[in-house]
Amino acid sequence: GLVILAIILRAQRIRQALRISQADRRELRGANALLALEIEERRMAETQLEKAQSELARSSKLAALGQLSASVTHELGQPISAMQNYLKAAEFDKDNDERKNSLERLGGIARRMVSITRQLRFFAQPGQSTMEQVDLIRVWKGAFLLVEADLKQKGVKLKVNIGEEKIIVLGNRLRLEQVLINLLRNSISALEDQKNKTIKVDLGIERDMAIITISDNGHGLGAQTMDQMKEPFHTTKASGNGMGLGLAISTAIVVEHGGQLRAENGKKSGAVFTLELPVELPLELDDLGKKGK
Ligand SMILES: Nc1ncnc2c1ncn2[C@@H]1O[C@H](COP(=O)(O)OP(=O)(O)OP(=O)(O)O)[C@@H](O)[C@H]1O
Ligand SMILES: [Mg+2]
Repeated sequence: GLVILAIILRAQRIRQALRISQADRRELRGANALLALEIEERRMAETQLEKAQSELARSSKLAALGQLSASVTHELGQPISAMQNYLKAAEFDKDNDERKNSLERLGGIARRMVSITRQLRFFAQPGQSTMEQVDLIRVWKGAFLLVEADLKQKGVKLKVNIGEEKIIVLGNRLRLEQVLINLLRNSISALEDQKNKTIKVDLGIERDMAIITISDNGHGLGAQTMDQMKEPFHTTKASGNGMGLGLAISTAIVVEHGGQLRAENGKKSGAVFTLELPVELPLELDDLGKKGK
């Protein structure tokens, strides 16, 4: 009797367990269907997001392209019309001195156009900069040669203070030169209409960092911060006198060199820009010996 009872109880337990598991399975199937629906919805949302993002990227690229075209058109338009005027003048000038004057001005205009294309080259080869050991003092000399004529023409005095024999950093010579040119050009234009125009340049090393400061006694930054000034197309200059790209490009170049570019107003007047780059430390003879082994 007991055995039979045990069998019956066992069968009941099994049946009950089976019922529960069937109910579980039904529930699971329901949950699975919901999940599938949710996944499908999420996938759709994702494709929509992707579409929206690429649309946004496309339209902001177009917007940037529009801004760039406007800037370049203005920037080149002015020297082109000036060039036409001087060419006409040179054509009609009987006087040799006047003709020479026109030709000199044409030279200045050509320099300006060269500097615009030089600046824009940055966008033509993004991320293609090859790094090698460069001496910042030589970079400075290269930059100086390119602005020397402008300094003279605008009557700007330059005071240079070089504190080292060599300042070696890992970098791209042309791009670093561009940074210095941009800073110098900014100082030159800040000095327009100022008395006693002076730019001071200091090159040195402090705690494994190469430091270049460029200070001027121009009109100063006003309330502008570096964050604002480094925004592409941010400019306080009249159209045709600046694209607002100099500091945007310079900051990008400095960052790609692992450095920093800071700006502040001078103590008395003008602006001070500080460029900091990590110094490439010379290999000690010891290290070379170890490497050889
Ligand atoms: N040395 C400086 N003194 C005073 N203001 C400066 C100086 N350097 C930069 N600025 C301010 O920062 C702004 C942005 O400079 P940035 O070099 O990026 O563009 P830009 O000089 O106006 O045009 P671009 O460099 O494209 O010809 C300038 O318009 C100016 O207002
Ligand atoms: Mg500039």
